[in-house]
Amino acid sequence: MKIDESTLVLGIETSCDETAAALVMGGSDVISSVVSSQIEIHADFGGVVPEIASRAHLEALNPVVARAVVEAGIDDSRIDAVACTVGPGLIGALLVGVSAAKALSLAWDVPFIGVNHLEAHLYSAFLEDPTLEFPMVVLLVSGGHTMLIEMRGHGQYRMLGQTIDDAAGEAFDKVARFLDLGYPGGPAIDAAALHGDPDAVRFPRALTDDRDNLDFSFSGLKTAVMNYVRKHPDVASADVAASFQMAVVDVLVKKARRAAETVGAKGIVLGGGVAANSLLREEMLGACAAADIKGFLPSRAMCTDNAAMIAAAGWYRLASDGPTPLDVGAFPNLKLPLVDA
Ligand code: KG4
Ligand code: ZN
Repeated sequence: MKIDESTLVLGIETSCDETAAALVMGGSDVISSVVSSQIEIHADFGGVVPEIASRAHLEALNPVVARAVVEAGIDDSRIDAVACTVGPGLIGALLVGVSAAKALSLAWDVPFIGVNHLEAHLYSAFLEDPTLEFPMVVLLVSGGHTMLIEMRGHGQYRMLGQTIDDAAGEAFDKVARFLDLGYPGGPAIDAAALHGDPDAVRFPRALTDDRDNLDFSFSGLKTAVMNYVRKHPDVASADVAASFQMAVVDVLVKKARRAAETVGAKGIVLGGGVAANSLLREEMLGACAAADIKGFLPSRAMCTDNAAMIAAAGWYRLASDGPTPLDVGAFPNLKLPLVDA
């Protein structure tokens, strides 16, 4: 099969709490992208409940795929391949998407492509700027991951640093819950911080003394916030939110900039849900301008989980590796495929 600019891939994403489908042509031209969020379903529980997520995916998936096809204004016979997240993620949630994608690939007699969700986040930037140049550093910050990755070429990744405990998004979610700011925590803290003073409390910036250490740690910061609020019960939540956010962003930006220096990157790209954070976006652009390298921020819709990035990564994988055998399973702990240092 010839893979080219006209190859149309249906992407499907069900790894966590977003049911999504999208049609992307040639790996970067988004024809339609539909995301159905389960945020309200899980809000009462203060976090994603895996069994509820699987059932919600089951209900939402067919209508979401149908809408992506209708919005694209095409007949489904035009679809050349079906790409779906096979991991990492919640096993029950992943299986809903994988089973549906395999069924569609069989019914339409087109290739199935199993996609790594982390690789797809790296590809979300290419959807909006296909001219991005290698090597680049990607800061992938989501609810489950915090990684600095050197992308040397398509499919060529080197891990420069990652969190040794909590993910950045997890820290946002936990601190927001502690401050009673609502769920999900990231956007709640982002909004509350607008009315607070980022210099009100000097929270710790872990692992920043050693310039060569590009790993992250956020669990001590979360504890520091809790201890501070317990000692100072009258402190304004907005000040705590703003100071906490400043501490996280400070570390993320510093380390991303050091990573870019270390590998001689042409630019820094953000990915993952936390990349929607207003302060992070502003500070990252400022740091890139100061270092005279390109700073690229995908739109907020492309930072959080979506299926356009799955279709984009699927297109590149189909071109490089060919179709995925239909007996492939789902992998809750799937890692990013790395090249040797
Ligand atoms: O990538 P994502 O949609 O899902 C995965 O974890 O794969 O990321 C969700 C995470 C959550 O922890 C959420 O609180 C965080 O991204 N997030 C934010 C913002 N919007 C979403 N964190 C900080 N500021 C935001 N504006
Ligand atoms: Zn994600």
